[in-house]
Amino acid sequence: MATQISQHLEPWHNLNGKVVMVTGASSGLGTEFCLNLARAGCRIIAAARRIDRLKSLCQEINRTTTFNDVSAGSLRAVAVELDGPTINKCLQKAWDAFGHIDVLINNAGVRGSVKSSLELSEEEWNHMLRTNLTGRWFVSKYVSIRMRDAQQKGTIINISSIDGLNRIMALELGKHKISVNSISLGLFKSEITDKLMQKE
Ligand SMILES: NC(=O)c1ccc[n+]([C@@H]2O[C@H](COP(=O)([O-])OP(=O)(O)OC[C@H]3O[C@@H](n4cnc5c(N)ncnc54)[C@H](OP(=O)(O)O)[C@@H]3O)[C@@H](O)[C@H]2O)c1
Repeated sequence: MATQISQHLEPWHNLNGKVVMVTGASSGLGTEFCLNLARAGCRIIAAARRIDRLKSLCQEINRTTTFNDVSAGSLRAVAVELDGPTINKCLQKAWDAFGHIDVLINNAGVRGSVKSSLELSEEEWNHMLRTNLTGRWFVSKYVSIRMRDAQQKGTIINISSIDGLNRIMALELGKHKISVNSISLGLFKSEITDKLMQKE
């Protein structure tokens, strides 16, 4: 079975030359993505606000990983500061680093304070939404525009927290005999999609 599957999928261990941009690369999961993808042969654009951490990460990658591809340039990883107000400018820098981006991993996110969802303030909620939703949309938008204009294919991977919210509320509220469930819908016909469905 495993052999059958691997014949149909792109082998994960051989991603030579793919340019992958990872947001939230300065810690946690993002750092691990960068290290492992670099080992698998990818070129890495590591993005976040803490540029010093990104520079150390990229130095480590550039020092410890070597190219199998002799035609590749010398750098395996570059650090790009990613901050809200200058996001499009930051993404131009990211795009120019290797001339294109094949894969965007939208991983930057904040957890918010350690409070019950019933005690969270609107300000805290908005802060989470700004980073975890609006920020990701901005990054996806500006990277996709560049992919589209370059007429290249691309992949965007969102590290999702929405299911996490459902899970946390379910865990918190279960003790009050309140169940919390999630249904992820595709597109279906209703009043809100009626006009959309009429389009080709
Ligand atoms: N850990 C968990 O249990 C868990 C569970 C479910 C989902 N997740 C999601 O998984 C992802 C990674 O989580 P993690 O645990 O690895 O978190 P982490 O170690 O705290 O890393 C979060 C990253 O996001 C970046 N970031 C935060 N706000 C940003 C902003 N406004 N602009 C740009 N970058 C920003 C941070 O970098 P800078 O501060 O340097 O900008 C940091 O590199 C997050 O999206 C998180 O919501 C985590």
